[in-house]
Amino acid sequence: MVYYPKGCDGLAVINVSEEELKEQRFFIQRVKAVTHMFDHKPLAFTHSYGCQQNVSDSEKLDGMLADMGFDFTDSPENADLVLYNTCAVRENAENRVFGNVGALKHSKRRNPDMIIAVCGCMVQQEHIAKRMKERFPYVDLIFGTHVLHKFPEMLYGIYEKGSRLICIPESDGVVAEGLPVRRTDKIKASVPIMYGCNNFCTYCIVPKVRGRERSREPAEVIAEVRRLIEDGYKEILLLGQNVNSYGKDKGMAFPQLLKELDGIEGEYIISFMTSHPKDCSYDLIDVIADSRHISHHLHLPVQSGSDRILKLMNRHYDTGRYLDLVDYARSRIPDLQLTTDIIVGFPGETYEDFRKTLELMERVKYDSAFTFIYSRREGTKAAEMEDPVTDEEKGRWFRELLEAQGRIGENAYARYVGKTLRVLAEGRGRTDEKLLTGKSRQNIIVDFAGDDALLGQFVDIRITKALPWALIGELLQ
Ligand code: 5AD
Ligand code: SF4
Repeated sequence: MVYYPKGCDGLAVINVSEEELKEQRFFIQRVKAVTHMFDHKPLAFTHSYGCQQNVSDSEKLDGMLADMGFDFTDSPENADLVLYNTCAVRENAENRVFGNVGALKHSKRRNPDMIIAVCGCMVQQEHIAKRMKERFPYVDLIFGTHVLHKFPEMLYGIYEKGSRLICIPESDGVVAEGLPVRRTDKIKASVPIMYGCNNFCTYCIVPKVRGRERSREPAEVIAEVRRLIEDGYKEILLLGQNVNSYGKDKGMAFPQLLKELDGIEGEYIISFMTSHPKDCSYDLIDVIADSRHISHHLHLPVQSGSDRILKLMNRHYDTGRYLDLVDYARSRIPDLQLTTDIIVGFPGETYEDFRKTLELMERVKYDSAFTFIYSRREGTKAAEMEDPVTDEEKGRWFRELLEAQGRIGENAYARYVGKTLRVLAEGRGRTDEKLLTGKSRQNIIVDFAGDDALLGQFVDIRITKALPWALIGELLQ
């Protein structure tokens, strides 16, 4: 039997009301009463696939779990509850989830009381939810992206009724303020400023699974960032699918929000992702250039260097506009780190088009690029387009792209050698365990010799060596 809680019938809700959240707090207590009866402290294993937004959602799910009496474990085998927060952007991420859920079959047989839950973007797609439900009858709970805040109620429903629960309402999306958050990091914190996406890039499933753009209230965002800085966090990552269209309906555009946040006293860095080039304004670049705390890193996904393909992708900019932005950003912020996303093998792309992407990469000289082979997503426009190029051919182009970026990126950081960078010390070295690792204002990894007592502090590091993905330096006293 499948049980549907209230609100799981396709209602479009925009703001989750205080009453609704109160109701969920009531269910948190009910679940807590259940877990209290266990002969041991219940353990949860949670794992998040995909983007930072998902990681941030998982911090909320973990926060609710902690309030419901759970501790956390690194191993799904001995957990009382396993929760996978899934990603739908590319097929290989989905295959990994199917593999990992499949592997839980034996754990569930050994421990029939174990609760297995799968949520997030992947199961927000109807055909996937159906497949998950049929192929894995031992999965207890499947819920979509718009009902995250109902997790306590759903979990209580399972404990109380002992039946499976599937809750995937279609919705334009919700904003839920005031959910508990479990942050494991003491130095870095992410803060979603908006949810959803209105862009409908033709290859992308995100608008379908995450709903329409909706921004959080500027006052809520500013208060949260202020609180985090007061609590000692040093790096705040603002999240949104397209942060540049933040606040359109809130009377405060993204550059203005950044300006407000930059005014908070203290030593900290504010970074953000992701910027859509079509909405990236010169004003934004000016605000970054003139700021005290905003990261000198721009992640500006270009996707393709061919204007023909950009049009087919529905990106709403051409390479001319993109290059103007890049040139302006570099002129205003000379130490800028610039990164991008690129898709190879979009339907109808020819080798000629692909060569244009290579040319653009040579022209821009990215510090690094996240490169993907196009993955067909059911329900998107691109999925209906002719796609005659074979996987082998796309694989060859992809390797050519990697090779080109490898060559360009190899010496990209050399320009920082001899310079002194202000670095936030974050943990043990990534190049060498004996070193400390940190992040510069440009969002570059910097390793250096230093004492653990420096963790969480900003230090000046003279850069002595550049690797393709990190810098090495010496601590200046
Ligand atoms: N296939 C391949 N890559 C994709 N991305 C989004 N959708 C797809 C897809 N269907 C990439 C884009 C985006 C990044 C987050 O993932 O490059 O910027
Ligand atoms: Fe997808 Fe485009 Fe929205 Fe990014 S901007 S989430 S690529 S539709």
